[in-house]
Amino acid sequence: RVVVLDFGGQYNQLIARRIRDLGVFSELLPHNITAEELKKMAPKGIVFSGGPNSVYDEKSPKCDPSIFELDIPILGICYGMQLIAAHFGAKVDRAEKREYGKADLEVISDSVLYKEMDRKQTVWMSHTDVVVAPPEGFQIDGKTHSAPVASMSNPERKIYTVQFHPEVRHSVNGNQLISHFLYDICQCEGNWSMETFIEDAIQDIRQRVGEEKVLCALSGGVDSSVVAALIHRAIGDQLTCMFVDHGLLRKGEAEGVVQTFGEHFHMNLVKIDARDRFLQKLKGVSDPEQKRKIIGNEFIRVFEEESAKFGDHRFLGQGTLYTDIIESGTDTAHTIKSHHNVGGLPEDMKMELIEPLNTLFKDEVRKVGEELGLPDEIVWRQPFPGPGLAIRVIGEVTEHKLDIVRESDAILREEIKNAGLDREIWQYFTALPDFRSVGVMGDVRTYAYTVGIRAVTSIDGMTADWARIPYDLLERISTRIVNEVADVNRVVYDITSKPPSTIEWE
Ligand code: XMP
Repeated sequence: RVVVLDFGGQYNQLIARRIRDLGVFSELLPHNITAEELKKMAPKGIVFSGGPNSVYDEKSPKCDPSIFELDIPILGICYGMQLIAAHFGAKVDRAEKREYGKADLEVISDSVLYKEMDRKQTVWMSHTDVVVAPPEGFQIDGKTHSAPVASMSNPERKIYTVQFHPEVRHSVNGNQLISHFLYDICQCEGNWSMETFIEDAIQDIRQRVGEEKVLCALSGGVDSSVVAALIHRAIGDQLTCMFVDHGLLRKGEAEGVVQTFGEHFHMNLVKIDARDRFLQKLKGVSDPEQKRKIIGNEFIRVFEEESAKFGDHRFLGQGTLYTDIIESGTDTAHTIKSHHNVGGLPEDMKMELIEPLNTLFKDEVRKVGEELGLPDEIVWRQPFPGPGLAIRVIGEVTEHKLDIVRESDAILREEIKNAGLDREIWQYFTALPDFRSVGVMGDVRTYAYTVGIRAVTSIDGMTADWARIPYDLLERISTRIVNEVADVNRVVYDITSKPPSTIEWE
């Protein structure tokens, strides 16, 4: 493995992902990890990441200086380079102007980092400080217009540094550069792939579980599905999956879960029909946050009651991902977020957690799902909120309104898929506002509901833009919804981005 020390830069996760894409396992570690701890992990290489600070700020993050004595190759990126420069006594200065964006790098040495690369190449810069002159023992490998030392190295000590960001796609040779670090300098073997991940995970699970039993809460989402399939591959019938049907899933999803896991994989699948129970609890409630709380609590209650019925399961399998763990920064890497995929299971459950996906990024989880033979509808499922359709029915939730959302959403999904846009649009669904309006159908005045279409492009859901769905496709969707879904006479398209809106309407 190759570890990335996290100095707080915005691209740090990306560094680990690039390294993994190149076939080497990589993880982010807090910058203040000790050399002793690192030594025990025996990484093949260490990357010092970028970060927002200046090395001369008193509070700027530092690393254990003994790391430089471990004789493990180091790649310093941006802030990481400045830290190395300052450690070895070079002069780091505030640049006259911030350099941000594309820059032309001129390679001026035969450093192995730039092996077989063009001498002039475009790189992505984002920094305020620059190294003015390299410290003793270091050679200059590259320069740009505003950075006289844009890249430097000390091959004897196996330390290589770049001021720019090779992990960003705009650095045209970035992957090649990282690859040279991994394979030429660190001598990595490059055997990280989803197949090897699966093999290793299966061994780990078998070893840990032994003859005991494991329980998984299956929600129909990607993460819990992949976890269930992986654990099942490892221990077969020692796994029981519990699927709570709260009646708030989309059309066909509950049936899909039973079909995939029960009939196709032949898992021990316990399906709990809790639809009436959830609907009863939601009766008369129109506040969105209260709905969320009720659904979360009810889920825990159902899970507790039902799992008590077959109480001899020692382990609980959960689909916690790497991003769930590092989201709050690697300093707190080991305090796992309280929200889990299944909607927050009770803390006092006396089961031991098994989280075999907790080193994976979302796209890797999808690959594992594909390897394990899960259907596309599950592997490529768009994000779907835990409270489900309950927050897409604005105001009080009734069976009738759920039907309208479920049916109109099914039409929208079908049309988007047929148009080949299902992987392009990040999330798309229908929502039902709590009002009726006047319409006319076949010479008869109608007074019926309005369906809202929401479709957004996004990277992570934090910000989003409304998707530019072609007019004729919108027309087809609208016509079908009004004709095929009872009690609807109007369709609107939400053309607000996030911010100022949110993706969901509640
Ligand atoms: P918003 O509406 O906040 O949504 O822009 C951002 C993303 O989060 C999802 N979302 C939820 N997911 N429980 C969840 O598990 C929730 O209560 C919830 N509310 C919103 C939403 O679907 C979008 O992907």
